[in-house]
Amino acid sequence: MPFWKAGKNDDQVLDELKETQKQNADEFVKKQEHADEAQKSSLIIDNNFTPVEYDPQYILQVNHLKKYFPIKGGMVSKTVGYVKAVDGVTFNLKRGTTMGLVGESGCGKTTTGRTILRLYDSKSGGQVLFNGQEVYDLSHKELRALRTKMQIIFQDPFSSLSPRMPVGEIIGEAVREHNLVPKAEFDDYIDQVMDNCGLQPFHKDRYPHEFSGGQRQRICIARALALNPEFIVCDEPVSALDVSIQAQIINLLNELQDKYKLTYLFISHDLSVVEHISDTVGVMYLGNLVEYGAKEDIFRNPLHPYTKALFSAIPIPDPKVKMNRIVLEGSIPSPANPPKGCKFHTRCANCMACCKEEAPVQREIEPGHFVCCHLYDM
Ligand SMILES: Nc1ncnc2c1ncn2[C@@H]1O[C@H](COP(=O)(O)OP(=O)(O)OP(=O)(O)O)[C@@H](O)[C@H]1O
Ligand code: SF4
Ligand SMILES: [Mg+2]
Repeated sequence: MPFWKAGKNDDQVLDELKETQKQNADEFVKKQEHADEAQKSSLIIDNNFTPVEYDPQYILQVNHLKKYFPIKGGMVSKTVGYVKAVDGVTFNLKRGTTMGLVGESGCGKTTTGRTILRLYDSKSGGQVLFNGQEVYDLSHKELRALRTKMQIIFQDPFSSLSPRMPVGEIIGEAVREHNLVPKAEFDDYIDQVMDNCGLQPFHKDRYPHEFSGGQRQRICIARALALNPEFIVCDEPVSALDVSIQAQIINLLNELQDKYKLTYLFISHDLSVVEHISDTVGVMYLGNLVEYGAKEDIFRNPLHPYTKALFSAIPIPDPKVKMNRIVLEGSIPSPANPPKGCKFHTRCANCMACCKEEAPVQREIEPGHFVCCHLYDM
């Protein structure tokens, strides 16, 4: 019998109402937690993922890497979906080489770099093997040691430098923290690193605002180099610089690579810079690596319709040669709601019926040249 028919007074009715509301709220929260758990486990189950073994020729093996960002909504901040920023990226990187990573804004280049460096607490799937070690399996102590081996240089050197620290301190801070050189040798070590990056010893006592954009990027490179890294993610390191300064920084990165056998993941919008600096090139679209291979193969013989369109925009410095520019219709879809099947099908001139249903898998079309497109299905 409902309580309002049981001859109860107002206080009793109010108490019972409150209790019912509390029970409903608890039940709702429990349901939410179950729904979130279900979402989480469906992310972890990845049918296309097959773990790879360490191959010593590679410093970095990225296998079916995923990074999804939860989208929160509703009154109790429930996870209502995911931004699939990196959605199954696979490539290998040989020691001492540079891989260029290109693609439209928002396609997941920076997130790929940051996920590889474990700058997020977790990944959503796949493997990142650095010298054979799964980066996400490392203990806190092991991760600290790895931090010196894997570094990042950002697009905007000014915002990544503390304005209140003199340059010598900025470059030496992490060296001191990780106890990388004996105290007595510290000053000479910093002078040497600065010299390697084209900075003078008297620059040590100056502050970041007293330098030009190019010099500030040299400070960022010196800060990374001081930790004696093996691998550096260069995230648009020259995009904010004048063309002449860009060339100086690219040359510096090349010199340092030769001298210290560094490996770079070089993220850029600028295809001519990527062509200049890279040994291999990866092309990203909406969280996927759609094509990947040796620079010569990608630039001279692009296979994926998206790569063809992207590279058709490179100007040809010969007035007699007519440019066959492929203009892509429509805008890049949202990574929170990517199209079914091939994510590029909404903009692809070669789209077939199967493209709308089934996602293509990465295939090796010629040695070392991988493409993800149904046009190349056997
Ligand atoms: N912390 C975050 N939380 C939620 N979404 C994010 C987060 N970081 C990135 N994203 C989203 O992930 C997608 C990929 O972003 P990312 O910065 O990796 O792209 P990008 O290729 O580096 O772009 P750009 O060329 O403009 O730098 C974008 O849709 C972005 O909005
Ligand atoms: S799979 Fe189909 S839609 Fe996707 S790029 Fe290839 S041809 Fe175009
Ligand atoms: Mg970016």
